[in-house]
Amino acid sequence: MATTCVVGILWGDEGKGKVIDYLAADTDFVVRFGGGHNAGHTLVLPSGKLVLHLIPSGIVHPHTVNVVGNGVVVDPVHLCSEIDKVRQRGIDIVLGKNLLLSERAHVILEAHRRQDQWAEGLRGSGKIGTTGRGIGPAYADRCARIGLRLGDLLRPERLRAAMQGLALQKNAWFAPSGLAPIDVEAAVRELAAAGDRLRAGIVDAGAVLRAAQKAGKRILLEGAQGCLLDVEHGTYPFVTSSHASTGGAFSGTGLPPHGMRVVGIAKAYATRVGEGPFPTELKDELGDKLRIAGNEFGSTTGRPRRCGWFDTVAVRYSAALAGVDELVLTNLDVLRGFPLRLCTGYLLPDGTRTADLPAFDLDVARPELIDLPGFSEDLRAVRSFDALPANAQAYVQAIEQHTGVPIRTISVGPERHQVILR
Ligand code: GDP
Ligand code: IMO
Ligand code: MG
Repeated sequence: MATTCVVGILWGDEGKGKVIDYLAADTDFVVRFGGGHNAGHTLVLPSGKLVLHLIPSGIVHPHTVNVVGNGVVVDPVHLCSEIDKVRQRGIDIVLGKNLLLSERAHVILEAHRRQDQWAEGLRGSGKIGTTGRGIGPAYADRCARIGLRLGDLLRPERLRAAMQGLALQKNAWFAPSGLAPIDVEAAVRELAAAGDRLRAGIVDAGAVLRAAQKAGKRILLEGAQGCLLDVEHGTYPFVTSSHASTGGAFSGTGLPPHGMRVVGIAKAYATRVGEGPFPTELKDELGDKLRIAGNEFGSTTGRPRRCGWFDTVAVRYSAALAGVDELVLTNLDVLRGFPLRLCTGYLLPDGTRTADLPAFDLDVARPELIDLPGFSEDLRAVRSFDALPANAQAYVQAIEQHTGVPIRTISVGPERHQVILR
């Protein structure tokens, strides 16, 4: 199948960036379909680590066209500086050639960032733990039909009118809420300047992608976040504000729902940044040890990631939701020297057991865990399944058995070549 969609299976940071960079070698287009610069996708290149937030993870390959789809919310000022940063690493970016931006993608404004941080402050101990980058308010304004789109940045009259319309509504409650009112002229100046820089890349990306698909081009759709952060299917309200599962791949690109291969990325253990339920979380020294072994600190905010056991209930749920054909299991090398445990069910406070992810009360679900024998070998140089220690093989097979999804690719290190294909 010429179109492949890559989605995160839990709460993000599963190693999508690494896997997409790896798969992009055989791809013509790499397309981000959702989220914004809340995402942090890490590539480990010979020249060192590169963290991408908005630019798709195929950008290192000179032959790929990288597309920021209409489902992404774009902070144009951030995007300009990210382009500069990537270019400084010696990676060529030519807007309109290897980087296209959907004219329909909505814009994150400075006001959205302030609103995001203000809302978190109001939530107090019930905070979501957002990245504070304005993602939620930008998507909210898209739904409220007062948002600005990237194409507006190229149309001075429309830009001013759209900013005025948005400010009219927001300033009506910003001032009484203690937020500084939006300065329309300052925003217009900043956005028009960013628009000038990005002009050559702002196109009807949906039309380009539909034509490419028709012509048989190989398209890789790059998910951001993970299925359990999906605004509708995730652990609401502790989610992001976009459709992070496969559903977002159609609405977020303008591609029709023709068949595609869906690849789910899951870590060999579970992590989460920010607040919200996490049944298999390790709140003890073992969790701290796992955080250090896996270098589990957020790629975007640097926050320590919460760590826990692999959760086959959550993975089975997400795989079903996303229509996953196969899983890529990442970070297996990190589990060297750790006890291995899998969650295979939840016990609820009323004494019942479930093997399904509930929409409510996940915070009081207790994990049912099974033990497996661990391994002590260094896996980073292993390149075939048969060469893995028997206990590591058995762990992979147990995950397949409990999730019902085949694992065809195993990642044993952050670098592109540290991969085992089965
Ligand atoms: P993404 O948001 O899904 O792209 O993931 P992030 O880049 O935020 O976080 C994944 C982290 O794991 C990054 O630091 C990667 O370099 C690293 N990583 C990816 N795959 C592997 C792997 O197989 N083993 C190890 N040790 N690290 C990995
Ligand atoms: P990648 O693509 C991990 C989390 C935040 C917070 C919640 C809402 O790198 O996997 P938001 O700023 O989106 O309103 O925050 O979602 N979050 C992520 N966690 N990886 C990400 O992206 C995330 N993007 C958002 O920590 O809990
Ligand atoms: Mg990340």
